[in-house]
Amino acid sequence: MDKLVIRGGNALTGQIKISGAKNAALPLMCASLLTDQPVTLHNLPRLADITTLADLLNHLGVEVTIAAGNGNGAGRTMLLRAENIADTTAPYDMVRKMRASILVLGPLVAREGVATVSLPGGCAIGNRPIDLHLKGLQQLGAEIDLADGYVRAKAAGGLKGGKIHFPMVSVGATENLMMAASLARGTSILENAAKEPEISDLARLLNAMGAKITGAGSERITIEGVASLRAANHPVMPDRIEAGSYAVAAAITGGTLDLLGARSDMMGATLDALREAGGFIAETAQGLTVGADKAGLRGINIKTQPYPGFPTDMQAQFMVMLAKADGASVISETIFENRFMHVPELARMGADITVAGPVATIRGVKVLRGAPVMATDLRASMSLVLAGLAADGETVISRIYHLDRGYERLEEKLKAAGADIERVPA
Ligand code: EPZ
Repeated sequence: MDKLVIRGGNALTGQIKISGAKNAALPLMCASLLTDQPVTLHNLPRLADITTLADLLNHLGVEVTIAAGNGNGAGRTMLLRAENIADTTAPYDMVRKMRASILVLGPLVAREGVATVSLPGGCAIGNRPIDLHLKGLQQLGAEIDLADGYVRAKAAGGLKGGKIHFPMVSVGATENLMMAASLARGTSILENAAKEPEISDLARLLNAMGAKITGAGSERITIEGVASLRAANHPVMPDRIEAGSYAVAAAITGGTLDLLGARSDMMGATLDALREAGGFIAETAQGLTVGADKAGLRGINIKTQPYPGFPTDMQAQFMVMLAKADGASVISETIFENRFMHVPELARMGADITVAGPVATIRGVKVLRGAPVMATDLRASMSLVLAGLAADGETVISRIYHLDRGYERLEEKLKAAGADIERVPA
């Protein structure tokens, strides 16, 4: 398994092109199951999770072809065509690799009237149940059975419109049910729906395919079911978490980065927190220019919340920045029950962080010291990269396959911005 070797201390400068968003691309790819016509996605990032899902869709009968990017760093174009569904079962050995595979459940049962999907199981950051997905499908008329580690959804006469109130906000459940309801008979209402920009991106594709969805991006989404969906072309939105991660890289190294393609209208809470901590952000015609004020960084308090609140996917990255800020900070993680796996690794680099349940207290230190550390999950591994960039000395990060799931060409982008970083085969 490869490792990353980082020698810290360089201030990052220059441009970084933000790739298409992983968390938009995954549901967009699943939407191809809803029609026998071709769906073309542009600006697709080159990520392990995208490949994993493409393999699963291929297993189900979707013909997936990828055209290479046009060379200037633009994302790839992917054509997906589910002319016929060859298999309505998503097997454990494929689903276990990536939780988002559960997003084939709604489209499959809507298209074929039956779907058998392996329960995704948990992951490092929590047990990640899917009860909201299943209850929602039942409210659209599906029969749900759980057996042998699989969920089987059946709707022999097709799904019917229904009213679904989510007791808690769930991005994946909102996406699964928005896709399923698109082909249901009648109108569906999703209340307390997730409002993430990725939900709106998915609704844009579905409506381009002929769906009738209004209210995406708000807590109440209305879907008027249609008999069938057609071909569509869709550009994947830029990755707001990748952009936020590189914004922290600029601030924590005392550099200045132009984040090409970053969208401030999707990053409100992240940018507000960055400004409050002493970062500076300027909007440009190409995206955002980000760095740290001369006065340096100072401690702030953060509470992760569903969009438009501070994103849980930015929590680990901000913790690193606050570990070197002047003063104390408190981070409350309200979305996942175990998303502080990066704390022991940061402590090995000299960070002063104490955790009590869902709350971490960080006391800023002047210096982080490079050390051998281990990645545990996607965003935690990015926080270790950021710590290595800001630390004195050398940091060696193992298990970086976590990084490859969500950050396209990471070391290439950072090296071009002046980082002393290289990937070495273990
Ligand atoms: C999506 O995961 C993202 N993944 C996650 O990003 C992100 O952290 C999360 O939304 C929250 O923003 C993708 O989009 C592929 P949820 P998802 O359903 O849909 C609980 C990353 O790093 N819940 O909004 O799985 C759940 O356990 C990843 O890119 C239930 O209890 O998240 C969690 O505590 C990590 N029952 C909370 O809700 C359910 O049926 C939010 O989960 C579903 C969820």
